[in-house]
Amino acid sequence: MKKLKIGICGWGNVATGLFNTIENNNKFIKSNGNLEIEIVVIGARRDNPKCDPGAVKIERDIFDVIDHDIDVVVELIGGVDVARDLILKSINKKKHVVTANKAVLFHHGDEIFKEANSNGVKILFESSVCAGTPIIKLLTEELSANKVTKIAGMLNGTSNFILSNMEEGSDFKPTLELAQKEGYAEPDPTFDIEGMDAAHKIGILSSLAFGTPLPPDDFYIEGISKIEKIDFKYAKDMGFTIKHLAVSKLNQDKIELRAHPVLIKKDSYLANLKSVRNGIEVETDLLGTLHIAGSGAGQESTASGVISDLVNLANSNDNILELDSNRNIELVDFMSLSFQYYFYIESNITPEAVEKITSIFAKKKIALESIAHKEDLKENISHIIVITDLFLEREIQYLYENILNLESVNKIRSIRIESN
Ligand code: HSE
Repeated sequence: MKKLKIGICGWGNVATGLFNTIENNNKFIKSNGNLEIEIVVIGARRDNPKCDPGAVKIERDIFDVIDHDIDVVVELIGGVDVARDLILKSINKKKHVVTANKAVLFHHGDEIFKEANSNGVKILFESSVCAGTPIIKLLTEELSANKVTKIAGMLNGTSNFILSNMEEGSDFKPTLELAQKEGYAEPDPTFDIEGMDAAHKIGILSSLAFGTPLPPDDFYIEGISKIEKIDFKYAKDMGFTIKHLAVSKLNQDKIELRAHPVLIKKDSYLANLKSVRNGIEVETDLLGTLHIAGSGAGQESTASGVISDLVNLANSNDNILELDSNRNIELVDFMSLSFQYYFYIESNITPEAVEKITSIFAKKKIALESIAHKEDLKENISHIIVITDLFLEREIQYLYENILNLESVNKIRSIRIESN
């Protein structure tokens, strides 16, 4: 049986989850993974009342972990700058690194992988995307004979938790609080609800599948914070639900990269994944469309991915990730893409509102698939629900400005419709 001596840096929710899982699932790790893991040292700035590390040595300075007699540094501190220093110092001391940190890979991935390659050590990061739901090794190993043309997924567990609970009638704020309590959300939950966390993850997948650099050039990122419960009702009436989707797609010789909420058909694969589940569709030439789903956040799911990296590290001799030499691949200009849109427009109750709104779309030659007008007599307002035909993203600003300029209109929001 193989043996690995590890040092864990960080002692929060994810690290303590790893510690407990290594103890509790020891039998499976040994029998299925052929691996015995010895936790030699933990880098913890402070104790965690939720977990007793027993006799394991604690270092208060996480950088001291690197100096111990260990094979692997498991980086679970999160964040960017200190994590980058810790990873680079570990690599330079010839320690392999396992990390669950998507932010540091998104911002410094190319630098970190290059450094690891030139030092002959491995960096593994299965848990950085979708926690333990396997996608990294799937792309880099299992699908290596395939031409991948598209990756689209719900990559943020917190967002899916919030959206699927809102769909059932819950409110945004208490559901976010519950996601924080369950340990799904980032320390700063704006990363989850404003789309950054999903953007980090699709950036990493795009780099693996298509060779886009890390960090990638700027791309379109929008979160779920503007969505309201009523949007689910109108979406449902038309056969849709609302999800947060991150997409990386081969578009001629460029890459389309984006992360934003979408209306998707209720009967689609991703629409039916609820709660903290993540789901990914990978379009390939040999296997067709592959679907993967699993818990995308939380202690146990993350521990599963970290341990899979340790098993992989111990059992393979040569899995250093070689970077694609052509990492200058360009991103498609988001403004040149076309989408169908759902619009929610709130206006005073007046007979002209619908006509005026229709004429604004007409000025830009944007065809409307439907326009419905519902009066809320209690609030004395109208909800005008528009579904457009495809139109160029660059027209959206004109539409917002001109519709909001109408005297009768108080509010407007919109969600793109994902075509498949
Ligand atoms: N905050 C992240 C999520 C954790 O909700 O998906 C896993 O990366």
